[in-house]
Amino acid sequence: MKPSNKYLKGKVVLVTAGPTRESIDAVRYISNRSSGKMGYALAKAARDMGARVILISGPTSLPPGPAHTKIVRVETASEMLKAILKNIKNADIFIMAAAVSDFHPCASHAVHGKIKRSKGPILLKLKPTPDILKIISKKKGLKKNLIKVGFAAETSSLISRAYQKLKDKRLDVIIGNDISRKDIGFESDFNEVCIINKDKTLIKTKRLKKELIAQRIILYLLDKTN
Ligand code: CTP
Repeated sequence: MKPSNKYLKGKVVLVTAGPTRESIDAVRYISNRSSGKMGYALAKAARDMGARVILISGPTSLPPGPAHTKIVRVETASEMLKAILKNIKNADIFIMAAAVSDFHPCASHAVHGKIKRSKGPILLKLKPTPDILKIISKKKGLKKNLIKVGFAAETSSLISRAYQKLKDKRLDVIIGNDISRKDIGFESDFNEVCIINKDKTLIKTKRLKKELIAQRIILYLLDKTN
């Protein structure tokens, strides 16, 4: 099916992309290797199919997001959560493609200045960041037919672990990708994914450019909006 710019006319698609950064002190942070490419490609694919797109992006070195999309830039997991809560009310599709940093330093360790190396070995105490998808899944007042989509970054047992995340986070669809492979996923221009529905039906894609993977995913979700 050739994508048309009318398929998603009148629909609002909210996409998150990129990593988050959690400060250790004024200059150092914890983050991950996400480039943001998959999320930006999803935003572009949805925009190309006529949706009104809101892209919430963690720090990336990508060129500014696709034209005619609202772009909200955030740094930390909690800023990302706030930005989502502010923008999700009218969304028909919510795609959480961001690689949220799983841990952030406990408050007592988030130092305002720069920790001096001469302090010697330091112990960093980390606590989990809020699970954004879980919070959004419990949120009241969102569109009744909102389609919630997550990504599952796995190094083994991809399908079973991804499906477990779909259930835990009460999602409609989860996109599983194998992050142990160097030729796809993090930092690569390519991906190969499993699109898993809550009814356990599953589609596997080939290894394709992230733009094409994004089109496949948006076309798959399109069917669910009607
Ligand atoms: N996610 C989230 N909030 C977090 C961490 C992850 O909403 N604090 C989202 C991601 O954006 C992704 C999905 O949850 O859509 C799964 O992320 P993943 O990193 O695969 O799983 P985690 O839930 O973080 O669990 P783990 O890292 O232990 O596998």
